[in-house]
Amino acid sequence: MTNNTPKIILAFSGGLDTSVAAHWLKDQRGYEVHCLTIDLGNLGDQEGIRKRAEEAGAASVEIADAKDTFIRYFIWPALQAGVVYEGRYPLATALGRPLIAKMLVDKARQIGATAVAHGCTGKGNDQVRLDVGVQTLAPDLDIVGTTREHSVSRDEALEYAAKYGIHVRQSSESPYSTDENLWGRSIEAGILEDPWVEPPEDVFEWTRPLTDTPNTPAELTIRFEQGVPTNIDGEDLSPTEIVQLLSDTGGQHGIGRIDMVENRLVGIKSREIYEAPAAVILLEAHRALEDLTLTKAQSRFKNTVSQEYADLVYNGLWFSAHHRDLAQYVVSTQRHVTGDVKVKLWHGNVTVTGRRADNSLYSPELATYNKEGDLFDQSQAAGFIRLHGLPAQVQAQRQALAGGGDDDLLRLAAPEAN
Ligand code: ARG
Repeated sequence: MTNNTPKIILAFSGGLDTSVAAHWLKDQRGYEVHCLTIDLGNLGDQEGIRKRAEEAGAASVEIADAKDTFIRYFIWPALQAGVVYEGRYPLATALGRPLIAKMLVDKARQIGATAVAHGCTGKGNDQVRLDVGVQTLAPDLDIVGTTREHSVSRDEALEYAAKYGIHVRQSSESPYSTDENLWGRSIEAGILEDPWVEPPEDVFEWTRPLTDTPNTPAELTIRFEQGVPTNIDGEDLSPTEIVQLLSDTGGQHGIGRIDMVENRLVGIKSREIYEAPAAVILLEAHRALEDLTLTKAQSRFKNTVSQEYADLVYNGLWFSAHHRDLAQYVVSTQRHVTGDVKVKLWHGNVTVTGRRADNSLYSPELATYNKEGDLFDQSQAAGFIRLHGLPAQVQAQRQALAGGGDDDLLRLAAPEAN
């Protein structure tokens, strides 16, 4: 190869598709291919990954450990924001993509590449997240979507690999398309494409079926400092240790299985299975602590922000000013989200059994039904309620809600019912 061969950075998983892609980019597109594998907490056989990159003719292969960065700058902010897509998906895959995009760009700069490549399908969200990330951070770089441009069937890919001596592991053959990182595992395709079909047990790797979960619950106390978990059962743990511990324990108790039909950005409804024990536990616990530490107004508004934030992450707009602005709001709300939450993990459920905060807004003196020590002045209630109900009262008098008779008012919420 001559020195002016253009360089490309390929997001390399080491699987069949990206191994074929590496070879194809060199052979058909004339690139000097540099493989970058990013470990977000999902990496198996690193030797195999290196070997396949070399067999595919890559000029270099780098395996970068980004676990810590991923948790600190992506997972914890997502937890603080409470982001969950369409009510259920904690966004593990979606959160990983902007970091991958950034690392592809950094690597391209470092070695003077003119392009980056990925093997995402042309029907999914992941291509959007990677492309938009790269396009935002480095508009001058070309982006090659190998699968999008050069779609091959599994058999063709296997044939291609065999022809060029790339040893893909047969055992890695799975009927599903999966993606994993510390925050969760996403599974799609195969038989799951029928939303009526119950996911077969072989879909799951992190979580036990409910028929196989222990009869004794696990009870844990999670400490948060300003919305970030720092300690479990009195022991300070690193971010990775916290996520790993909750993932393992939650998985044993069958927590974090999610089966949903979601709306992709590209307009397709898709059936998705997720396993996200740590995310489900932490989101629940974090919320319980916010219940004590945010006012009603803060918590209502934060819910609105969470939805907007989740959409933004899902739709690949991580590197945007809108995100920065939302994040500033979220961080500000977390100032007093410091305290402990007790959770019980049992038969697929995470139940919060207790919570306490350093600066809790919960006031026993106001809440108590005991006479002793009660600071709430009940004599003020009647006047408050009169004023609260005043607009409804005036309206009912001036603009009768229904046609008149009592029957009609009974039908207020069900005007058409018989
Ligand atoms: N539907 C999820 C998302 O858009 C998961 C995507 C899973 N990706 C994959 N390569 N299997 O984030």
